[in-house]
Amino acid sequence: MTTTTIETTTDQKTQFLQETLTGLQSEPKFMLSKYFYDATGDRIFQQIMDMEEYYLTNAEMEILQYQADQLSQAIAADGSSFDLIELGAGDATKSIHLLNSLMSSNLEFSYLPIDISAHVIDDLEENLPKKLPGLNMTGLNGDYFDMLKRAAELSNRRKVVLFMGANIGNMNIADAEKFCISLKEILSPNDFLIIGFDLKKNPQKILAAYNDQAGITKSFNLNLLNRINKELDGNFNLEYFDHYASYDPASGACKSYLISLKNQIVNIGNQAVHFAENEHVYMEISQKYSLADIDQLAEKTGFKPLQRFFDQNQYFVDAIWKVD
Ligand code: TRP
Repeated sequence: MTTTTIETTTDQKTQFLQETLTGLQSEPKFMLSKYFYDATGDRIFQQIMDMEEYYLTNAEMEILQYQADQLSQAIAADGSSFDLIELGAGDATKSIHLLNSLMSSNLEFSYLPIDISAHVIDDLEENLPKKLPGLNMTGLNGDYFDMLKRAAELSNRRKVVLFMGANIGNMNIADAEKFCISLKEILSPNDFLIIGFDLKKNPQKILAAYNDQAGITKSFNLNLLNRINKELDGNFNLEYFDHYASYDPASGACKSYLISLKNQIVNIGNQAVHFAENEHVYMEISQKYSLADIDQLAEKTGFKPLQRFFDQNQYFVDAIWKVD
């Protein structure tokens, strides 16, 4: 048991080191957003979600809070039993509204949250049944697609996949297409996908969400440098890097970068990485969609758009698609 844990940790550290060096030795340089979320990163992301400028979380929460009954009616379809599979369930604060509504309409279903974090799944298995007595649930810890295949083997009921939080936005459009095609390949005709998109809107509004006045987003990005310093024996000086966010209203791509403020060499373990003055490091994309972009994504990847649910401001949409 102890050995396994140590091995896993070493493996993860080796992978973190390799992927970090690969990114920083590329031209142009990049880092992977999956590494943002250590304990400090989780805490700063919590602060981002609480910021005045960051409208995304509240917008989708509003949809789940006020339209859970309409959503659950749409999911109920012909009334047959189903598996509700959530990709990246987190603490289920949004989906709990939907689960509540599904339970009170006496539909027969199981909830199968999938998360890459074992900790998240353990917490859900401990806490959700207390909040929703009688809920039928099976937590699945692992990679989305591995666990989806597992879920498909567990029962032959129809599947309703939940993919919220604008997670699809953290892929560029080409990757989002590949992702939807892979999903479609695991699902069967008439299965549903409920997918959350942050919509194209006033560019200033979007940019502000990724470039807040107080500098919380900046510290979120810089935290990855700190993490490399601590875990990979790096010597980044955080004062020599700045955060730069851009939003292109034409493509809908909102991108975050770190900018090197001077010509410098940074050591990571026994490797040296050179940064030119004003060189950029690509950190993350948050792709925004128009309604037409969303329908196009569905059509291109084998889904048929059925219904859309918006918040009052129309900042965000949860779309229901059916496998075509
Ligand atoms: N990926 C999330 C999003 O697109 C979280 C996030 C908010 C984020 N601000 C960020 C990720 C800045 C990287 C950089 O909304």
